Amino acid sequence: MTSKEKVLKILEENKETYTSGEEIANALNISRNAVWKAINELKKAGYEVTAVTNKGYMLSNTSDIISKAGIEACLNKETLSDIADIFVYDTLESTNQKAKEFAILSLKHGTVVISKEQTGGRGRKDHSFFSPKGGIYLSLVLDPKKLSTLEPDKITTFIGNCVCKAINELTGISPYIKPVNDLFVDSKKICGILTESGSEFETGLVQWIVVGIGINFDSDLKSFPKELKEIVGSLFKPGKASITKNQLIAKILENILTGTI
Ligand code: BTN
Repeated sequence: MTSKEKVLKILEENKETYTSGEEIANALNISRNAVWKAINELKKAGYEVTAVTNKGYMLSNTSDIISKAGIEACLNKETLSDIADIFVYDTLESTNQKAKEFAILSLKHGTVVISKEQTGGRGRKDHSFFSPKGGIYLSLVLDPKKLSTLEPDKITTFIGNCVCKAINELTGISPYIKPVNDLFVDSKKICGILTESGSEFETGLVQWIVVGIGINFDSDLKSFPKELKEIVGSLFKPGKASITKNQLIAKILENILTGTI
């Protein structure tokens, strides 16, 4: 972890409260100047950090940038220990594609891949999934040996229920599942789920599963292609979310990894 990431972790864990430069420097065993440099880097990256003399630094509650540190700060201990690793990218062709590469290279149940946008997001039946900034694009690697069922529809429905529950718990909004892989709010699609697997050709044994979740969070619907405008919705209007993306991601991961498939 870089100093910038370590400082961000402390700020995320203490959101809306001030932490002095000295405390941060001591906790990380780095100089106060290094803290100051890391804070400047974070500001450059778009984080709203307030600095007040004699008080220190504070990350604003309205700061909504997806990061590993931000997600981990929202996770309970049980889920944290169930997660193998979290990879956050600014842009990817497809998080499912990346997660599949990780799974094939070395299968680790609970590997999370997130991108702030996708250039080639994929949906069911080889459809594309429009994935601009403002959405959450998340893929999770699952080890089939850790699941009690390998029925695709059961897994996808379980994931859909976990996402519905997470949204409801945090916002009071009640999405519903249009079987099996779409989530709707007010007759508009706000989320799609794509479950993929890889198997050994000779035995048919399932070796890995990747579930991909795409959520229009505070997406600008005006930017969507004409043919989608009538069909899709977004949980929030741009910049008007009552929760952060990190909070929702953490709750979804908690529901999936501590639930039973
Ligand atoms: C569908 O609507 O048919 C399913 C869409 C699934 C989209 C998600 S976004 C994260 C993951 N990466 C992808 O390329 N697809 C899934």
